[in-house]
Amino acid sequence: MSAEGRSVSILGVTGSIGQSTMLVIEELRAQGVDIPVQAVCAGRNVDALADACRRMRPRFAALADETLLEEARAALAGLDIEVAAGASALVEAAARPADWVMSAIVGAAGLAPTMAAVRRGALVALANKECLVCAGPLMLAAAAASGARLLPVDSEHNAIFQVLTHPQRVDKLTLTASGGPFRTSSQEAMAAAKPEQACAHPNWSMGAKISVDSATLMNKGLELIEAAYLFDKPEHQVDVLIHPQSIVHSLVHYQDGSVLAQLSAPDMRTPIAYALAWPDRAGISSPRLDLATIANLSFETPDEDRFPALRLAREAFRAGPSRVAALNAANEVAVADFLAGRIGFLDIARITGETIAHLEGAEAGLIAKTPSSFDEVAAVDQAARHAARRIAVSLAAA
Ligand SMILES: NC(=O)c1ccc[n+]([C@@H]2O[C@H](COP(=O)([O-])OP(=O)(O)OC[C@H]3O[C@@H](n4cnc5c(N)ncnc54)[C@H](OP(=O)(O)O)[C@@H]3O)[C@@H](O)[C@H]2O)c1
Repeated sequence: MSAEGRSVSILGVTGSIGQSTMLVIEELRAQGVDIPVQAVCAGRNVDALADACRRMRPRFAALADETLLEEARAALAGLDIEVAAGASALVEAAARPADWVMSAIVGAAGLAPTMAAVRRGALVALANKECLVCAGPLMLAAAAASGARLLPVDSEHNAIFQVLTHPQRVDKLTLTASGGPFRTSSQEAMAAAKPEQACAHPNWSMGAKISVDSATLMNKGLELIEAAYLFDKPEHQVDVLIHPQSIVHSLVHYQDGSVLAQLSAPDMRTPIAYALAWPDRAGISSPRLDLATIANLSFETPDEDRFPALRLAREAFRAGPSRVAALNAANEVAVADFLAGRIGFLDIARITGETIAHLEGAEAGLIAKTPSSFDEVAAVDQAARHAARRIAVSLAAA
């Protein structure tokens, strides 16, 4: 099986990953590869959704925001595309019978649509790490039951997926991290950092939320949890290494002393193309690696005192799935507040940590229980968002 004839849907088509996915599809189509698109969806960007529809020609397009339905219908008039809006429309986009579904909505908002693709046994290209982070055991159980295959798109997990030849012979996994824009910044500079500085990633061009997560290193914390779930490893067998050049995307250490890594230029089209053509490979025009020009690849240990989000994520994973769902939800609230200018950069990890500590006291039963349903995940998520908002308001007022 290759990308030829594989029908696809793209959840989060208007975002950074959605755009890269369309570029890969367009390039393969130009080579004569038939890739019909079933459905696309987005949050509220009607113009970008209309552009995606003109390029992809899906049968179905959905927007999260119901108030924009008529505007979307007008923008897509004449394209012969069914248009819908609201939470159920997003789920329908994923439930339509595409072989391969790109899950690239940002945040826990992607959980219900992604699960619709998982439940019908699709190949699910997983860019959205938050949905696996907040409901890992339930999502993996659903995939095992339906036969769905989760294809990691996050460059680090995609790298491991590519070189994981002998899963039973693994000593440990190493996730690389660029270190983000504040890798060498002082504590004072980070305290004063503005959203545009936090979003100025040195190597990758990404959406605002993941850019801020990369700056706090919460992205790597979420990825650590994602790797532990995807590759069935305990947290102490997953470590993180700062690698400022973002060329080595991750490494697998085997029990015979061999270490296998995947290298490529930092361009998301490479892991997306790998997931789309899997188990084959596609030919695409992402930049070629010129190691002689790069000359030096460097590595360093992350500083968990300056970037406490990484430690918070590790601790949450050790404590259980509800702590992880709470961590994710609190971080989403804090990042949104930071992007809106309501709190400072260092407050993001603080709010996340204080939210978990609060729930451990006030909602001890909820947070100690392993969720047995998606409703229970949603209850933890809502409790954490509520607490995080309250803590953020009191911090902003202080
Ligand atoms: N960008 C990368 O290089 C990269 C790499 C690895 C993993 N990821 C992961 O991939 C996911 C997407 O990242 P991104 O950088 O592409 O983000 P992004 O550029 O911010 O795009 C987010 C997408 O989600 C849609 N969206 C936002 N809120 C929504 C909602 N409530 N319901 C439905 N759709 C909603 C947006 O639609 P509108 O445009 O209409 O708002 C957009 O299509 C994240 O989980 C991220 O961690 C990204």
